[in-house]
Amino acid sequence: MRVLFVGDVVAHPGKRILKNKLRAFLTEHSVDACVVNAENVAAGLGVNYPSVKEIFSYGADCISLGNHAFSCPDYLRFADSECKVIRPGNVSEAWPGYSCCLLDLGQKGRLLVVALLGQVFVTPMADSPFRYFQDHINMWKEEYNPTNILVDFHAETTSEKGAMGYFADGKVSLVLGTHTHVQTADETILPCGTGFISDVGMTGTMSGILGMEPEASIRRLADKLPARYTAADGPAEMNAVLAELNIENGKCTKIERIRIYE
Ligand SMILES: [Fe+2]
Ligand SMILES: [Fe+2]
Repeated sequence: MRVLFVGDVVAHPGKRILKNKLRAFLTEHSVDACVVNAENVAAGLGVNYPSVKEIFSYGADCISLGNHAFSCPDYLRFADSECKVIRPGNVSEAWPGYSCCLLDLGQKGRLLVVALLGQVFVTPMADSPFRYFQDHINMWKEEYNPTNILVDFHAETTSEKGAMGYFADGKVSLVLGTHTHVQTADETILPCGTGFISDVGMTGTMSGILGMEPEASIRRLADKLPARYTAADGPAEMNAVLAELNIENGKCTKIERIRIYE
């Protein structure tokens, strides 16, 4: 099974590069399943219904979200009707929507996509992702009978992400970090066969900070004054990971970082 996972899509530049590049990439690389983290697609914070439909139309099979899942509160009313859009599972039971999604690819396998949220340096909204994983891993396998499991671990620190990688090693096919918007160069296959990267990176413009105009960050950090973030514009890049998964034993056999430019 060949899987493409696309890192946090940010605002219009992120959507634009997906629109122009994603389909051709999926065809060229014979991708069987495409998962896109889109938590920043709506002007940089959150997700909205039209953008969800757009991203599916560009080739995504599943959309995952993170701490900004409901930063656009309007999306709350759509969450229960979109079973292929998932938000982290280890959160308040009040959150609507889904925390995992099964992609049935026929002879290519059955990929279960799971979203988890970290606790370190993230606005406190998550229960322990480790305990949640431990409590759910057997249920995921029994209920969905997947050949492979992909975990989108949306977290800030490389240490928490590394810990999740080793914690889940051999139990899932992929642990892919998201949230920091900066791609890390540590992709690897862990000792028991789980493909891992600390952060996939983002899909949007690099003309700014994390896809946003720099002024708000400077005002907040240098001047210690409040400021509203606005999405930056400029040439975009798509940061992603391409992985090959064995559907017989669930192991990752290849993991590769991808950066595509406009
Ligand atoms: Fe993000
Ligand atoms: Fe995030």
